[in-house]
Amino acid sequence: MKIVIVGAGYVGLVSGICFSDFGHNVVCVEKDERKLAMLAKGEIPIYEPGLDALLAKNITAGRIKFTNDLATSMEGADAVFIAVGTPTRRGDGHADLTYVFQTAKEIADTMHSGIVVVTKSTVPVGTNREIARIISKQRPGVEFHTASNPEFLREGSAIEDFMRPDRVVIGVESAHGEEVLRRIYRPLNLRETPILATDLETAEIIKYAANAFLATKITFINEIADLCEKVGGDVQQVAKGMGMDKRIGGRFLHAGPGYGGSCFPKDTLALARTGQEVDAVQSIVETVIRANNERKLAMAGKVIAACGGSVKGKRIAILGVTFKPDTDDMRDAPSLVIIPQLRKAGAEMVLCDPQGHMESATMFPDETWADNAYDAAKNADAVVVITEWNAFRGLDLARLKAGMSEAIFVDLRNIYTYREMDAADFQYFPIGKRQRKST
Ligand code: UDX
Repeated sequence: MKIVIVGAGYVGLVSGICFSDFGHNVVCVEKDERKLAMLAKGEIPIYEPGLDALLAKNITAGRIKFTNDLATSMEGADAVFIAVGTPTRRGDGHADLTYVFQTAKEIADTMHSGIVVVTKSTVPVGTNREIARIISKQRPGVEFHTASNPEFLREGSAIEDFMRPDRVVIGVESAHGEEVLRRIYRPLNLRETPILATDLETAEIIKYAANAFLATKITFINEIADLCEKVGGDVQQVAKGMGMDKRIGGRFLHAGPGYGGSCFPKDTLALARTGQEVDAVQSIVETVIRANNERKLAMAGKVIAACGGSVKGKRIAILGVTFKPDTDDMRDAPSLVIIPQLRKAGAEMVLCDPQGHMESATMFPDETWADNAYDAAKNADAVVVITEWNAFRGLDLARLKAGMSEAIFVDLRNIYTYREMDAADFQYFPIGKRQRKST
């Protein structure tokens, strides 16, 4: 099959490379010259484990190309995927659909009869129908098929999520649209991946509902963690006990500093906004958004409390700034709230992150950077883990402590235990466990 992908951002790039690995002939259309130049050389503009090797393999096999020329790319294509960004519109929380509609117009200009126009970008309910309207208005009489194919991949495990998804959702309106998408995803049949074929609106809502539900799960366990800190109990054990109930499941129940990233914050806001507009208020989602914002601020308070009520003049080593490990993505990262709050409270910080440095150097203009956790902790009063990179999971605690002025360890991801921290003589402050004096 010949597939065109418009937009080589996270979703477009991963989808394009994985589709080419399925054996399809893929052309990715990207307007950003810098990105395009990198991709043409086989370089990946984002950090995603394994993606560079998969790209190299498929470039060599001649199955994937990058260009800024949509018209030529469309020749002979079976399907064109819209995978451009839908950022939060400033001011109102709505998804900004400018790029999606612009792409729809460009597709209309260049398409041939019979093509399937698939939206992979996360778009609010009703958008696919609007895309269809724009295209038919521009090219009346030319037959095309609209489809919605939301993407559920996570950064850091994007290839695995794409190649071994729990399900593929396709929203379609015609037998041909369904048939083409089923053929595109046929390689997943071997793994018996369920394909849910439904209508456009349902597919659009599934994506938002799934993300909002996961964000709710995280926010729920975060509040239970606060409760544990007050009354005793260990949130990790609580999550384990809850998760053993198959109706609940154990995943996405890790308490932490609040969710971030390119999807949950943006998609929960957009869902809440749609609900308000159509008078179907999503009160749970609205509460989740508020609680998650407050949590990021509260985490700075937790660090200040751990440091005895003030961080004025204190030196703090921050381990991890990206919104989660195995990505260089800083979008809505809890660190973007916690670090400025601590700075406001008078702390001086040394930051360390295996990937975040390049992306975030301008976001934290007042802080310095260290290459590793030990250097970051030199002369520090406290160490704070914000992101659970593997590099921070197995630290030599004695070595870490030896360089520090005071031995305070705030673990916002629960990657250590009281036992380990007691043995190393740290004052340990995890999430969701009653504070006790470490010896
Ligand atoms: C998410 C969805 O998982 C994915 O299906 C969708 O397509 C895009 O959004 P992603 O943002 O890449 O993926 O990361 P994810 O692993 O879901 O984590 C999102 C945020 O939640 C991170 O900040 C992470 O630290 C946090 N999180 C996740 C928790 O705090 N606890 C958990 O148990 C899980």
